Amino acid sequence: MTRDVFIFKPETVQEILVNATRALGATMEYHEARLQAELLLAHALETTRALLLARLDETMSPERAARYAANVARRAQHEPLAYILCHAEFYELDFVVDRRTLIPRHETETLVELALAAARAAPVIVDVGTGSGAIALALAHNLPHAQILATDISPDALAVAQINAARLELESRVKFRQGDLLEPVVERFDVLASNLPYIPSQRFAELPREIRAFEPRVALEGGEDGLAVMRRLLAQLGRHAARGAVAFLEISEEQGKSAVELARQTLPRAAVTLHRDMEGLDRVIEIELGDAGE
Ligand SMILES: C[S@@+](CC[C@H](N)C(=O)[O-])C[C@H]1O[C@@H](n2cnc3c(N)ncnc32)[C@H](O)[C@@H]1O
Repeated sequence: MTRDVFIFKPETVQEILVNATRALGATMEYHEARLQAELLLAHALETTRALLLARLDETMSPERAARYAANVARRAQHEPLAYILCHAEFYELDFVVDRRTLIPRHETETLVELALAAARAAPVIVDVGTGSGAIALALAHNLPHAQILATDISPDALAVAQINAARLELESRVKFRQGDLLEPVVERFDVLASNLPYIPSQRFAELPREIRAFEPRVALEGGEDGLAVMRRLLAQLGRHAARGAVAFLEISEEQGKSAVELARQTLPRAAVTLHRDMEGLDRVIEIELGDAGE
């Protein structure tokens, strides 16, 4: 046996990256594996992906390499990258996310756009089912004088939302309340924005493992037809709405027709409009309550 065997041979960043890409390649396409390996590596080296190239010949400390390997193993087990990096971008803002809350989705930005246009001078703005705080905080950031109330049934999600409010320096204007739908809100709302769970229960098992095994079930599952939580919210809207109030509710792309019908049945005096997202898919129903509030 030569002496070399006993000498620790540090690996270069390049070698580590190749191994990580190979490990991730077992569960995804090569180019995706390489991208994810690079993003995790940039995180491990506290740099950006663009700057990695200049560091490929460096050696990595064993501690750092071990932490990187642990994160690659998590990703190989299908844990979403956002949870491993504890970060997600939404409406050009940086959010902390972990398994206590849903990862905000790009398609929800349509709901924010619509609510923003309606909320410019609204005294009471409410986000129901706030999760990471994504919608409420995006609205507050873009409406510098607005006060926003945000509810969630999950105390865990609200703990994350509170962290995000502090990081974005919006704590004084966004208040979080725990409870079922609008129950914790005594104020009458002028604008309401809500992205409630809408996956039909029988579809839950078909969701990709990334979602099904890692994101909170309470953030995803919407009962038999996916509209169970929204149905209960619609029934609460009238008695919580100010005169002339408007509500924006996110739906899945297959729910346009049924969600519009449901809203019209529940609130016959309201005007209901269906909006598409940037991909042309049904995404939001808008309910102008007029004098439908009690
Ligand atoms: C689809 S996630 C949306 C999270 C966040 N608003 C977003 O768009 O990223 C649905 C959220 O609604 C919350 N939720 C589910 N049922 C609820 C209820 N009955 N009352 C209040 N919040 C509820 C979940 O905890 C979860 O945070």
